[in-house]
Amino acid sequence: MRGILQVLAICSVALAAPSQLERGNHVVHERRTIEPIGWVQSHRADADDIIPMRVGMKQQNLHMLEDLLMDVAHPDSPTYGQHWTPERVADFFAPSESTTFPQQGWIEVNVTVATAERLLDTEYHVYKHPSGAKQLGCHSYSVPEHISDHVEIIKPTVHFNHRVSEDPTRLRKRANPNHLGQPFSGQGPKTNGAKIDAALSLATCDQFITPDCLRALYNFHYTPVATAKNSYGIVEFTPQAFLAPDLDQFFTNFSSKQIGQRPTLVSIDGGKSPVYLCVVQTIAQNFNFNGESDLDLEYAMVLTNPQPITLLQTGDLVEGAGFDNWLDAVDASFCTFQGGDDPNQDGIYPDTLPGGFNQPESCGIAKPPFVVSVSYGQDEGTATHRYATRQCNEYGKLGLLGTTVLYSSGDNGVAGFGGVCQNSSGVDDDSPDAVRFNPGFPGSCSFVVSVGATQINSGATVNDPESACERVIFSGGGFSDIFPMPSYQKTAVTNFLKVHPPPYSAAQFNNSGKARGFPDLSANGANYVIAINGQFELVFGTSASSPVVGSMITMINDARIAKRKGPVGEFRDLFIELYEGFINPAIYSSKFAHAFNDITTGTNPGCATDGFTAVKGWDPVTGVGTPNFQKLLPLFLGLP
Ligand SMILES: *[C@@H]1O[C@H](CO)[C@@H](O)[C@H](O)[C@H]1NC(C)=O
Ligand SMILES: *[C@@H]1O[C@H](CO)[C@@H](O)[C@H](O)[C@H]1NC(C)=O
Ligand SMILES: *[C@@H]1O[C@H](CO)[C@@H](O)[C@H](O)[C@H]1NC(C)=O
Ligand SMILES: *[C@@H]1O[C@H](CO)[C@@H](O)[C@H](O)[C@H]1NC(C)=O
Repeated sequence: MRGILQVLAICSVALAAPSQLERGNHVVHERRTIEPIGWVQSHRADADDIIPMRVGMKQQNLHMLEDLLMDVAHPDSPTYGQHWTPERVADFFAPSESTTFPQQGWIEVNVTVATAERLLDTEYHVYKHPSGAKQLGCHSYSVPEHISDHVEIIKPTVHFNHRVSEDPTRLRKRANPNHLGQPFSGQGPKTNGAKIDAALSLATCDQFITPDCLRALYNFHYTPVATAKNSYGIVEFTPQAFLAPDLDQFFTNFSSKQIGQRPTLVSIDGGKSPVYLCVVQTIAQNFNFNGESDLDLEYAMVLTNPQPITLLQTGDLVEGAGFDNWLDAVDASFCTFQGGDDPNQDGIYPDTLPGGFNQPESCGIAKPPFVVSVSYGQDEGTATHRYATRQCNEYGKLGLLGTTVLYSSGDNGVAGFGGVCQNSSGVDDDSPDAVRFNPGFPGSCSFVVSVGATQINSGATVNDPESACERVIFSGGGFSDIFPMPSYQKTAVTNFLKVHPPPYSAAQFNNSGKARGFPDLSANGANYVIAINGQFELVFGTSASSPVVGSMITMINDARIAKRKGPVGEFRDLFIELYEGFINPAIYSSKFAHAFNDITTGTNPGCATDGFTAVKGWDPVTGVGTPNFQKLLPLFLGLP
């Protein structure tokens, strides 16, 4: 109770006798790092105006998350696979005080601007947006030192309700987390635009990757049987969207019995087309709007057929969405967890702009699929620590529930989107003086499976060793500037740094041996044949690698379910122990080492360097290597 009571006490004390709040006790709690796009500071707020102040309280027990995850995910743990129920997760991490307050984790109090300014040692201004919207805000705020450990966030303060115009000329040229899925964000797979007109076979896999090439490369031959109890989710951020005729064109050539098959749509925050119900947007059609979704779905659907695929289509066409939005949809408690989403980075719903999704945000509308692949990312240099940490903890919780979350590691080697590096303040900066490597988030989060990219070398076959991808894209990899090294990778990463010390200074990357290294593993990311806008093209990227690894994990889940053969129709939560959940502790363990093809050639250049080098064992280019499905399957089947 201590934290809450003190906050309330301070509020009432302040209301009664503000002078008792000594300025010297205050420490800065939050400061805005990026100016809010589109909002203009207008004038000082009226001292008598009433502010509905919301104080978000810190969750408890988060420091135990990594150990708890090890208990359910390490192959040597006696409690391997004993995943938690959503209720147990919510209760365990809720703020201890929450039971006395109806809205979990929040205190609400109406105060005048004058009082809020004294309480938080700040100045409030009115900000205006071209859309006509107004909001109160401040640049930074402080709270007394002795309560700062209990308070997560106070609103309204430095956070803005972003309503970003769709006019690209208004937007910054660099990748911006506000614009996940926006074509100009520099994300998504790359194409060389050429139409493919060649006879394809296993002999041409060095130039053209098809589902058969991947099956041969990774010994991936499996037809699922327990599809009703299994699930595989693909996340897409609007305006990225698939085109149904493209799926059928791909199926026609590579899996004709799937013609007409579609993913099961979960529409998150207006992900569904406002014009045509039950389908995603089809207004914008070209590679930059359809390439990512077509790629992800074509390969995930064919490689796991007949497993139904869940499409988590996130964000409306006006505002779009951030990573937190899909997490809200699969975990209602995350909507308010530690003060809720970050309006600087996420979509805020209802969206009141013309054509926007003007309905409540999608909280807890779907169960988390057991495997989720997300081929989107942002630079750590554009994420605040608070934002990245809150979200990373949520991936840890999904792991406790038995869900595997995979993210592509990035396509720019050690640099960020658009080849941008960080300056010495740790911020994205395209000046040549910015030499710091730019790790990719969320893959840099220790509770995510980060997937890098490999290639079949020119003239080589599916039976030859692959190299790190150096065609069109470079595999994202390196060391986090936010997250410490998790215990599961300590041996592998320490070995890499000791045996192959990279020739770079601490100004270029966190070389202390204490930072999280990524990616965790990899799969082919070069020369994928996809059907796109009515023709076949070649695409490149870790965007391709992630759904392929996700497909393999999904098929292993299927085999685990099939082996236990529960009664038909049994409630799927009874099988929760059968899903692999967070696989990193397993794939780094010595037991699993032989199930990966170690990649020992290639680099991931960026920031005017050659980047890191793929070597024997784990490396920050290709992780532990590419999976050999036939070897991986019995290992996972052998676990409890
Ligand atoms: C704050 O004021 C609003 C508007 O008068 C009211 O609806 C709300 O219930 C008040 N909240 C609290 C916590 O008193
Ligand atoms: C697709 O199938 C058609 C008809 O068999 C064939 O002509 C074409 O080369 C194939 N395209 C690819 C990319 O496999
Ligand atoms: C880094 O870039 C940011 C954003 O452009 C800028 O505010 C900051 O001053 C830069 N820091 C250095 C050391 O150049
Ligand atoms: C390197 O990472 C570790 C673990 O996150 C952190 O404690 C340390 O402060 C970082 N070092 C630098 C110089 O940023």
